[in-house]
This record gives sequence, structure tokens and C-alpha cells, in this order.
Amino acid sequence: MRIPFVAGNWKMHGSKAMIQDHLGQFTQQAEALNNVNIAVCPPSLYVSAVQSQLTSSSVKVGVQNVCDQAGFGAYTGEVSVDMLVDMGVPYAIVGHSERRAFYCETDRQVADKVAIVLDKNLTPILCIGETLEERESDQTEHVVKTQLIAVIEKVGIAAFANIVIAYEPIWAIGTGKTASPEQAQAVHAFIRNLLAQHDTAVAQQVVIQYGGSVKPDNAAALFAQPDIDGGLIGGASLDPMDFLAICKAAS
Ligand code: G3P
Repeated sequence: MRIPFVAGNWKMHGSKAMIQDHLGQFTQQAEALNNVNIAVCPPSLYVSAVQSQLTSSSVKVGVQNVCDQAGFGAYTGEVSVDMLVDMGVPYAIVGHSERRAFYCETDRQVADKVAIVLDKNLTPILCIGETLEERESDQTEHVVKTQLIAVIEKVGIAAFANIVIAYEPIWAIGTGKTASPEQAQAVHAFIRNLLAQHDTAVAQQVVIQYGGSVKPDNAAALFAQPDIDGGLIGGASLDPMDFLAICKAAS
């Protein structure tokens, strides 16, 4: 039985004041939720500040990206998986569409990042999804299959027992144009069936989040879908009560 997982991707937002106000309100009420795993992914600079608010909480912390080189070295500006281990950070978002678009991350680089995170026994949140143009030209399945196959070829299907997948239709990210529950379920089922062609047991085990304009008023209908196991939440995760409402909808 898959436990739903809701993660908040703060993107390039956050402040010391927000962390003290936001997480103070959120963590107390989140502890009352059952049957849902929760994580908060602030900008890396704020990880310690977030961790200080989560000391007695079941809410976990994650980062939004990681270097495709392990260890330490001359990679100015990068964050290494070894630093995540050092800081006790269990989750890393990998291959977000904004990094694929703005920083030209390729399927190969994303697969390398997944492998490096897994090598340290941490959990990658692997983002996949299509553009509006690709959807309108009926390329959605081809796009997500290509993105997934790159990772399967790199790490093998068994590794997916330790990978969270986040299907994020790019046309729904930050637009308010949420995929309908039926649209999202169709792609989630395609993803799970694709994985099942390699290993049926792993396919049933993999948590597949939906991301793209999830809000308190649409979360329950999305999360009620059989192959949607929670969400990767952007804008709504910046408001503690909205994020709590979304986590409640998943629990
Ligand atoms: O990673 C989650 C993010 O891409 C979704 O953003 O604002 O549409 O919830 P938003």
C-alpha cells in the first residue's frame, strides 16, 4: 500500500521570518495528520533554518537540486549529495522542468543526478512532464517515456523502489490551469504501466506525485485518483494553511 507523499517546492522563495512564521503554524497541525508523508524543500540556503523548525516533527526537508558530481570540488555554486548526507537532508528534487528549461539539464544529466542521490541512500524526487505544445501534438506519453527510460537505463528498474516520481505537466505549473483529475490519472497510469513492463511489483510500489497548480480546492479530487500518490506543490506550499489543507486532502 503506497503512503501518499506531499512535498512543498518553495522554488526561489522564502525568508527567515517566513520560516519561523510558516513552519511554526504548519508543523504543529501537520503532526495530527495520519497516512501522509510530508517534506518541505526550501532554497538550499535556508535548509538549516527549516531543520531548526522541524526538530520534533515528522515533516522532512529536501533540496531543489543537486550537483551531478558527487564528493567535494571545484564546482562553484553547486550543492553536493555528500553535503546532503552531512546535513541530514533525505530528499532531493531532480530534473524539475525549470532546471531542464532554464539550465538546459538533459535527460542524461537528470539520470546521473538520480544515480548520485541513490548512491548515498537518499531519495530523489524525479520530475517529468510535457509542454503544452507537446500535449497538443499528442506527444505526452512519448515525452514522459523518454524521460523515464533515461533513468531506467542508468539505474535499473529495481532502483525505482527508492525513487519518487513527480509528474508535472509544464503547462499546469504556476498557471492556475491544473490538469483535470482524469488528465492527470491517465498519465500516472501510463507511467505506472510503463514501469510495470519492467517490474510489476516495483511499479505498484512507486509513489507518483502530481504537480502543477495543486490548490486546497482541487487537491482532494486529484489525490482520489488511483495512481496519484500525493503532490509536489509550488505556490500553495508558501502559505502554511493552504499547504496544510493540501496535506490533509492526501491523508
Ligand atoms: O515543483 C512543483 C511546482 O512545479 C508546481 O508549482 O505553483 O503550479 O504548484 P505550482
